[in-house]
Amino acid sequence: MSTTILAIESSCDETAAAVVVDGRTVKSNIIYSQIELHKLYGGVVPEIASRKHVEKINQVIQSAIDEAQVTWDDIDGVAVTYGPGLVGALLVGVSAAKALAYAKKKPLIGVHHIEGHIAANYIEHEELKPPFMCMVASGGHSHLVYVKDYNQFEIVGRTRDDAAGEAFDKVARAIGLGYPGGPKVDKLAKEGNADAIHFPRAFMEDAPYDFSFSGLKSAVLNYLNGCEMKGIEINKADVAASFQQAVTDVLTDNSVRAAKDYGCVRLALAGGVASNSSLRQSLIDRCKEEGIEFYYPSPVYCTDNAAMIGVAGYYEFINGTRHDLSLNAVPNLRIGER
Ligand code: KG4
Ligand code: ZN
Repeated sequence: MSTTILAIESSCDETAAAVVVDGRTVKSNIIYSQIELHKLYGGVVPEIASRKHVEKINQVIQSAIDEAQVTWDDIDGVAVTYGPGLVGALLVGVSAAKALAYAKKKPLIGVHHIEGHIAANYIEHEELKPPFMCMVASGGHSHLVYVKDYNQFEIVGRTRDDAAGEAFDKVARAIGLGYPGGPKVDKLAKEGNADAIHFPRAFMEDAPYDFSFSGLKSAVLNYLNGCEMKGIEINKADVAASFQQAVTDVLTDNSVRAAKDYGCVRLALAGGVASNSSLRQSLIDRCKEEGIEFYYPSPVYCTDNAAMIGVAGYYEFINGTRHDLSLNAVPNLRIGER
């Protein structure tokens, strides 16, 4: 007998719903992205995000059910992201999921957003099973997570300040590329020289798997200001490539070192920054040298989506996790917390 999960995600600026069977087969994956709306402001405006989620959520959920060609009789549970994220945005998904679970008499499963990003790796890699090391790099989070089992996580390293995606977005803004910056820096960097400017790589002595991006971000801003003051023309492609290389080096070194130290033969990448071409290539090369099997999701499963929540929700469901109607949005939910 198979298990079908309807999943809902609304933690930031994507209104998403998906139907996932047995945690591995995506029957539908509907994403309404609000990026065009937030671009006008140079970043996500929480109040606007919440309002747009309210407007779109029912339609997105219905599309996910229609596209999957399932009925409520086929659905075994409703999974929803309940943290971390923007509280107003999360509340829209959580309220919709609670209403549906109550009305249709289905179990409700609250899912951690980051556990969802990690689980995105299971969709296209049938052979991937825990334990493995996972580098989660998104707009709001950067964590190195030891995935002991489907429902057991240990945070091995974290950013001390900015998330990797946040650094991409800030540097993109400084060189006039607009929001969201990651994909734009990635594209422009292809035309630049990654060795043109040496930006710092921060490694923490007291916590060897932690990282920090605020020094790097300041170094880029200082470089840009310095050029402006001296009247030197800025080569934006070189700035993009050199900055991207610094992020790539730190994330690659830390994740490969952690994988080796923890005796992992598998390393996975997750989160929006996981679609970065330089980071992927660097990890492909390093993992090959080290004899580590490397996994990463397709871009559509890297940025926020509900299919990943359906996968994580399935593993929670079979592990017995059930939430009642008192489930609330938890903006700073910790990984592994139930
Ligand atoms: O996972 P995600 O969709 O949202 C969060 O949970 O935060 O990640 C969004 C982040 C943004 O900061 C965006 O700039 C970054 O992922 N991103 C990228 C790329 N594509 C998206 N960063 C670098 N290179 C990319 N190709
Ligand atoms: Zn995310």
